[in-house]
Amino acid sequence: MSKVALVTGAAQGLGLALVAGLARRLDPDDTVYLTSRRLGEVALGPVRAEVRTELLDVADPDAARRTAALIADRHGGIDILFSNAHMRTGPTDDDRAIIRDYVEVNNLGPTRLLREFAPLLRDGGRLIVVASSFGSLDHLAPSLHHHFDDLTTLDQVDAAVIAWRDAVADGSARASAWPTFANIPSKIAGVAAVRALAHQRRDTDLDRGVLVAAVCPGMINTPASAAWWDVSTAPSPAEAAVALLDLALDPVNPDHYGQLVRAGEVIAWRTTVG
Ligand SMILES: NC(=O)c1ccc[n+]([C@@H]2O[C@H](COP(=O)([O-])OP(=O)(O)OC[C@H]3O[C@@H](n4cnc5c(N)ncnc54)[C@H](OP(=O)(O)O)[C@@H]3O)[C@@H](O)[C@H]2O)c1
Repeated sequence: MSKVALVTGAAQGLGLALVAGLARRLDPDDTVYLTSRRLGEVALGPVRAEVRTELLDVADPDAARRTAALIADRHGGIDILFSNAHMRTGPTDDDRAIIRDYVEVNNLGPTRLLREFAPLLRDGGRLIVVASSFGSLDHLAPSLHHHFDDLTTLDQVDAAVIAWRDAVADGSARASAWPTFANIPSKIAGVAAVRALAHQRRDTDLDRGVLVAAVCPGMINTPASAAWWDVSTAPSPAEAAVALLDLALDPVNPDHYGQLVRAGEVIAWRTTVG
């Protein structure tokens, strides 16, 4: 059967590189959906698979449901989903002012995608959330671990994220041990969402060759990271995409199931006791 893949936030950066890589490595009968919050021209280079573009603003509460229905209608299921979209921030942003939009794009949107697309995964499918090495609980003070540890449903993850978001918005997070860099709790919550979904699906998924995982692409030279660090010598999006494409296209390593994976290696959820 021909394969169907979809990438969110794919107009530039890592998302665009994932679309280009999938379209190069999949077959001419396969379809790769380049989804983004705005439609425009993108340069993909030579590809083999068909590439289709769709509007998908992950902050739109109905977008995941609408897109999943469209994919189900056209194809009956999906083989590869990369949840990659990300709202950029900068060091001078006021976290209290941006946190609602940030959480909507980077957390609540992705959990809506997981809810809608997980039931559509075909045998051998891959559901991959782009996180980062900040997604390990080790980046959070042990007194805060309980917020994201041992969560077994996406609703629990959303509730934890909303509680953190509201504490940032009302300023109370600053009086506790929450990191001021919103990317840290946000990426931890992204990995917690993968762990919760994996908790529910592990046995049947592994029987069916399905992989649910979070992935750390490592530092990439994109404007998103350049706002924070000198990334001039970091890998390009195309270089960083290779390990992610391997995770999507190579045979499943069961050790990766429900884990945060970087370059084929599992990053521990935590090495300290909370
Ligand atoms: N760059 C790094 O060093 C690094 C390191 C670790 C992890 N990551 C992760 O890798 C992923 C990609 O990062 P990147 O550096 O490629 O970021 P990027 O260049 O900022 O690309 C992010 C993409 O997300 C899209 N986006 C923003 N809001 C959206 C929304 N509401 N709905 C749909 N799409 C939306 C953006 O759309 P527009 O094109 O319209 O702006 C953009 O195309 C992110 O999840 C990031 O956290 C990156």
